[in-house]
Amino acid sequence: MKRYEDLSPSLRCIMTPGPVEVDPRVLRAMSYPVLGQFDPEFTELMNETMEMLRGLFATSNKWAYPVDGTSRSGIEAVMVSLIAPGDRVLIPVFGRFGHLLHEIAERCGAEVFTIEQTWGSVFPPEEVIAAIRSFKPDVVAMVHGETSTGRVQPLAEIGRACREQEALLIVDAVATIGGVPVETDAWMLDAVVGGTQKCLSIPSGMAPITYNDRAEAKLLKRKQVERGLRSGAGTASELPVVRSNYFDLGMLQDYWSPRRLNHHTEMTSMLYALREGLRLVLEEGLEARHDRHRFHERALIAGLTAMGLELYGDAESKLTVVTCVRIPAGIDGESVRSMLLGRFGIEIASSFGPLQGLIWRIGTMGFSCRENNVLRLLGALEAVLVRHGYAVAAGEGVQAALDVYESNVR
Ligand SMILES: Cc1ncc(COP(=O)(O)O)c(C=O)c1O
Repeated sequence: MKRYEDLSPSLRCIMTPGPVEVDPRVLRAMSYPVLGQFDPEFTELMNETMEMLRGLFATSNKWAYPVDGTSRSGIEAVMVSLIAPGDRVLIPVFGRFGHLLHEIAERCGAEVFTIEQTWGSVFPPEEVIAAIRSFKPDVVAMVHGETSTGRVQPLAEIGRACREQEALLIVDAVATIGGVPVETDAWMLDAVVGGTQKCLSIPSGMAPITYNDRAEAKLLKRKQVERGLRSGAGTASELPVVRSNYFDLGMLQDYWSPRRLNHHTEMTSMLYALREGLRLVLEEGLEARHDRHRFHERALIAGLTAMGLELYGDAESKLTVVTCVRIPAGIDGESVRSMLLGRFGIEIASSFGPLQGLIWRIGTMGFSCRENNVLRLLGALEAVLVRHGYAVAAGEGVQAALDVYESNVR
């Protein structure tokens, strides 16, 4: 019989835009004994998680809970529940994940209208607002932090315009939550989806979401109680029933409400992980955490530019937690990445679609966002570039980052 070795994954320094290194406290939380999903001890942990999620999303929304699955599951749950077939949906696209929203909206049976911005930039809010006024969508769906290009889209004015035009605004904040400000209430976002494996430093496998009363009103019009749980006749919905059972937020919220109406079997160990990750965020404080991400971004950029490398994209719309670097002419980007991983145990990312082979993407997210990691990456990258024949300004990168760290001005 074939013998399989004991599991022994390497200890990596993960500097990608996700997944990133998991905080040891989160890993420990995941090893605790499993509880039954209706055990009062467990439902209390669910309630505490909802409470902490409201803090994370800066909202007083009643509904803030995780969808079980990767971040895409949260996006799909929100979209399939809030977009009824035939709805008019506007999607402003400025990178790969905007295209994902388009793809999902189409599968929801929506009439989709997209506007596109050149990759490496974001939309001037007026452009999106003009499209909202002319297209009159029922729903606008857009990405906040685009990891494919390392850009962040300002949302406050778009949120206000959606409210005025009575459109629901759905936001993918998968890459930004816990790393840069996401102001659900202040920016009038109707539904927001976060990610665990990025700035929260929890493994992939849950998608925290929140939505307000406006969003809830719509999904209640599509609600149905599952066969087998109904007492009496099924509920008649005003709008077509949500086409997914697993992702029907009307049913999920019944499970997360004091009613605890049975739906899926909750992922106990992932919930422990999420709760511990949220505790870490709130202990650090959101503002301090955002400052920390900005500080290490500054050191990283100082190091990369001192080394002679060029950043990609508009400087004004740069996403703090993802730094995109142009691969110097004549250098094989994949060979550099593979040597960084193989010799130094450091992972950085390539990119997608039109940017494939043109840029590297470096993440400074959550637990991975720390001085040791930034310095280690800069030192290793310099060595690898020299090995690839690139005339790097030797020694300058780490020194420039050290200057930022030693000045300690946050
Ligand atoms: C901005 C953004 N949205 C959505 C996703 C999809 O997340 P997941 O792969 O966890 O489903 C990602 C993942 O990288 C992302 O960066």
